[in-house]
Amino acid sequence: MLSKIELRNGLFLIAVFMIISSAHSQIVDSPDDTVAGIPVNYTEANVGDYALPDPLTCNDGQPVENAETWYKKRRPEIVALFEQYQFGKSPACPKKIHYKVLERGASAFNGKAKRTQATIYFSENSDAPKMDVLFYTPSEAAEPAPMLLYIAFTANSMVIDDPGIKPGFIWNREHKKVPAGEGRRFERLDVPAVLARGFGVATVYYGDIEPDFQEGAQYGVRSLFSKNNNLPPEDDAWGAIAAWSWGLSRVLDYFEKDKTVDANRVAIMGISRLGKTVLWAGATDPRFALIIAVCSGESGAALSRRNYGENVAHIASPARYHYWFAPRYQQYANNVNALPVDSHELLALLAPRPVLLITGNTDKWSDPYGEFLAAVAAEPVYRQLGKEGLNTEKMPPADKPILKDIGFYMHDGGHGMVPDDWNVILDFLQKHLQIKD
Ligand code: GCU
Repeated sequence: MLSKIELRNGLFLIAVFMIISSAHSQIVDSPDDTVAGIPVNYTEANVGDYALPDPLTCNDGQPVENAETWYKKRRPEIVALFEQYQFGKSPACPKKIHYKVLERGASAFNGKAKRTQATIYFSENSDAPKMDVLFYTPSEAAEPAPMLLYIAFTANSMVIDDPGIKPGFIWNREHKKVPAGEGRRFERLDVPAVLARGFGVATVYYGDIEPDFQEGAQYGVRSLFSKNNNLPPEDDAWGAIAAWSWGLSRVLDYFEKDKTVDANRVAIMGISRLGKTVLWAGATDPRFALIIAVCSGESGAALSRRNYGENVAHIASPARYHYWFAPRYQQYANNVNALPVDSHELLALLAPRPVLLITGNTDKWSDPYGEFLAAVAAEPVYRQLGKEGLNTEKMPPADKPILKDIGFYMHDGGHGMVPDDWNVILDFLQKHLQIKD
């Protein structure tokens, strides 16, 4: 049963969203499609009506009227709902974790950078699972450097052009671990460009934390915690996205021990499924100072209740990516309005920290307008904490960034990154994490 307050807030939000929805999308309709046997809507007028849960009303109906109620009561409630219904509950850091530093402060990029390479062993067993961390700090930095930590689809040696990087391993399409040189080279981090703005850069390969296929859990960090191998997982057992996010927190644990890095100014960034990953990492680990989610789409920043592009039924289908989530999530595939949370609340969990959403105007599968509307609906929480949201209900056209405490940028292009994204990212980092003189 909905309480009066929930009903009032719900109706208010329906009204607001119906008005915004029809009027301000910048995305051109496309013909419908079918994925995994499930129809995909690409017509804005057919999105349907929905009511979003109110992030500023507690489960018992109490309105959140100050920061204390948010931090002590409402925020933990929303984290718990995401754990129970979407991502699953992650464990604490294992006691047997340990680190080996292969190289510290080696000169790289013609003396502009200092390179460090370390391995994080998630258990006492040195064979597996373990994660290679590679990072650079500006060589001129007198102070510990703020850091952009990127979670990549491939091994460190494939992400950065530097012959000094230890060759890594990747999981190939046949689900075998092979030397990284045999894989695809499709991502590049421009280290000198980031260093030039006074930031360090770090990268890790998500497959080191857990390989991305249905049976992948047995090779990754989740295997270290499973007690009852023969029983089906609990409804709120952690999925692969929670595992990757958890791995990012372990990198931050390591940075806290390294004096060359300012662990209070670590930004995280990921694309697509790894955009979803950084959002959940930011939600579960308030130590991350800033979050950049590129084309995170469904179950990331895009509102699940909007029937546009990918929806919960597509993503949580047993034929696709159900293993990314807590098993309970699948129950909402055809009943998304009953899901107690939606993506605006995932963004709200990042407040008061800066968050930048990057989308693409032709990446319709990821529902860029749904990401914008989530940012609008997260804004009351940012305001409650004295921060600035987008300050508009009108979606900006492509190539026009809005960079407040919530940032939104839609590039002219599709899924993934385009070169111009970098200037926006670096401006956002500088605006929020640069130490002011
Ligand atoms: C698929 C999936 C998306 C995901 C994307 C990616 O398209 O449906 O939800 O974001 O893969 O990670 O590239």
